[in-house]
Amino acid sequence: MLSARAWALVVAAFSMLATASSASSAASITNENTPTTNKKPPVKVFLLAGQSNMQGHGYMLVQDDKGSYRNGTLEWMVATDPTKYGKLKDSNGNWTVRDDVWIAYNRQNIGNVRVEMNQFGPLTPGYGGDPGQQGQQMGPELGFGWTVADGLVEQQEQQQILLVKIAWGGRSLAGDYRPPSSGGDTGIYYQTMIANTYKTLAHLDQYFPDYDGRYELAGFAWHQGWNDGCDVNMTAEYEFNLANLIRDVRKDLDAPNLPVSIGVSGMDGWRHNPRRDGIIHAQFAVAKYPEFKGTVESVETRDFLRPPLPESPGKQSYHWNNNCETYWLIGKAMGEAMLGLLPKKKKSTVATSSSDKDNGALALKEEKDASRQNYIRKGASKQNIQSSMDRAKATQ
Ligand SMILES: *[C@@H]1O[C@H](CO)[C@@H](O)[C@H](O)[C@H]1NC(C)=O
Ligand SMILES: *[C@@H]1O[C@H](CO)[C@@H](O)[C@H](O)[C@H]1NC(C)=O
Ligand SMILES: *[C@@H]1O[C@H](CO)[C@@H](O)[C@H](O)[C@H]1NC(C)=O
Repeated sequence: MLSARAWALVVAAFSMLATASSASSAASITNENTPTTNKKPPVKVFLLAGQSNMQGHGYMLVQDDKGSYRNGTLEWMVATDPTKYGKLKDSNGNWTVRDDVWIAYNRQNIGNVRVEMNQFGPLTPGYGGDPGQQGQQMGPELGFGWTVADGLVEQQEQQQILLVKIAWGGRSLAGDYRPPSSGGDTGIYYQTMIANTYKTLAHLDQYFPDYDGRYELAGFAWHQGWNDGCDVNMTAEYEFNLANLIRDVRKDLDAPNLPVSIGVSGMDGWRHNPRRDGIIHAQFAVAKYPEFKGTVESVETRDFLRPPLPESPGKQSYHWNNNCETYWLIGKAMGEAMLGLLPKKKKSTVATSSSDKDNGALALKEEKDASRQNYIRKGASKQNIQSSMDRAKATQ
């Protein structure tokens, strides 16, 4: 049960009226256009992306034939372990609505690549699943949002977080999300993800009336890999594609050291299967690249698998048996990794000057790589992103 306030903000089939932002204005990491006397820091924006398991298919409310909530539903979690999960309900017994975390979710069917957000509001359970399933299903966004927000509260009193969740079911990294640097045709879902991120950031005041005009792109969370793990060639290419995805998302969102948290594709648990193991191996391997040191982390998820019905609310093995506890734990683990990657709030003078030096070195290194990168981007990314932006305009 969503609260009235959440429902009021949930608008299905939302379509934007304003024109798409230009890439250059939206690309600024901190938007300082609106003068403000508010002491809150800029809204920290986290992009959450992937396939159906980032959408999330945890069944929150499914009951057995006696009318009891099934094991592994969110209702069951709150009833069974109130110490841990009681916080998810308020004193009226409604789902808790966080006032310091906002979320915007594309909630689209496979094949719908319109640049649009179909559900947004303050974070509460129910931001998972496909169209028609809002309020019924959840994904990693819930545990991620709570974990990151609670972690930041410990560091500073006032804050606002925005989760931009963009995911479609059944999408591969090798094809659908193919990053420009992998060569070949850039995936239409990659392009739409970037375009939708820009567009959402350019219209935050329409989604969130309290928005004061300042945001900061803070992190990228990725939970994807089932589809690639169904194909031996896509599995073999996954490490290459994932490293390119990170590089390209950072480049295209103008956020060179954007922290990246990856929840590995552990839907088969600890059973061994060369393709599933191959995807997980690739996900851990990329996080160990020297260029990603301290900015990319992959987290274990295989322990979070629960047995199917009746120990879970469903039996879709590729959707973690639809278990809400599993989705909560994945989001929590990804959130904890993200917290560890975020720059610490207070820096000493020494730390600041040394990080300036690091940035200088990084800029030089990037200059060296530039000829290759520019070549790739001339052919793929920039034009494709422009065409995504044009498509965004055309669909308004
Ligand atoms: C909470 O639940 C009660 C009863 O179910 C309902 O009347 C009320 O409107 C809800 N409160 C909010 C803030 O949504
Ligand atoms: C994988 O790639 C090889 C070599 O290009 C090709 O022969 C084979 O058909 C591909 N397998 C699949 C399942 O696509
Ligand atoms: C379901 O959860 C209850 C605790 O709420 C537990 O006692 C029971 O064994 C579980 N049933 C199954 C089939 O896992």
